[in-house]
Amino acid sequence: MSQDLLIHTEAGVTTITFNRVEKKNSFTEAMYTQLAQTLTQADADQGTRVLVFQGDVTVFSAGNDIADFLNHPPASEDAPVFHFLRALASFSKPMLAAVCGPAVGIGTTLLLHCDLVYAGDNAAFSLPFVNLGLCPEAASSLLLPQMIGHHRASEALLLGEPFMAEAALEVGLVNRVLPPTECNAYAQAQARKLAGKPLASLIATKRLIKQGQQTAVLEHIAREGQVFAELLRGPAAREAFSAFMDKRRPNFADC
Ligand code: COA
Repeated sequence: MSQDLLIHTEAGVTTITFNRVEKKNSFTEAMYTQLAQTLTQADADQGTRVLVFQGDVTVFSAGNDIADFLNHPPASEDAPVFHFLRALASFSKPMLAAVCGPAVGIGTTLLLHCDLVYAGDNAAFSLPFVNLGLCPEAASSLLLPQMIGHHRASEALLLGEPFMAEAALEVGLVNRVLPPTECNAYAQAQARKLAGKPLASLIATKRLIKQGQQTAVLEHIAREGQVFAELLRGPAAREAFSAFMDKRRPNFADC
């Protein structure tokens, strides 16, 4: 079994640690498969009351592993990334994240499905889909405008420029900013607090907070996925990804 994800359950808290630091915790197809399975099991398992995502103190996740992504483009709704996204959007118990360093693409969009997010002061969030010739995923084109308003969401999604932890705190995308070395421990302490509360009340409260939005979110994930797959075959995405592999700036003059 690969060690790219470390899964650990203790005192009702299941923690998923992204552990592929040499590739900036970018996600491969195999990792999406394991993430989807872990979420499905954790949601059903009585031993899990709360779930936590965490990365390294230097990096949360660089998003999709670009090389792996080109070898295994998500061709249908059955692709592992969509299993993960649906499991994420449907997860019924409290979900927390501790984010330090870069959180790129799905490294940021997965946070929109979390209930509490803690950030190290080195966290840098970015949604560079347009810069990669792609479009938003994980229902971020629905959830982000709802959370931070149309103009701020457009700035994040159209320009794709990174924004730091303090800016994320100001717009309500994170709950608290901490020194990076304290971030994971703080999220764990909050998770333990939640795990001590009555599970049925936690689940009911989360469902009420989400106000029956789950169907719309799942539909949006599917719709974005179709557009994403079309754009992935287009010239801009091809240019963006070859530029990344060749370590050069992309040239979109013909796109
Ligand atoms: N896919 C595959 N490999 C990745 C990766 C990704 N998304 N992000 C980083 N890596 C690899 C780099 O190729 C490099 O590998 P190498 O050592 O074999 O050359 C290694 O991880 C270190 O990355 P590097 O870019 O040198 O680190 P950095 O600290 O300077 O920058 C990031 C970190 C996250 C800002 C930068 O790597 C980045 O922008 N990555 C791409 C993010 C992206 O576009 N994701 C896709 C979203 S759909």
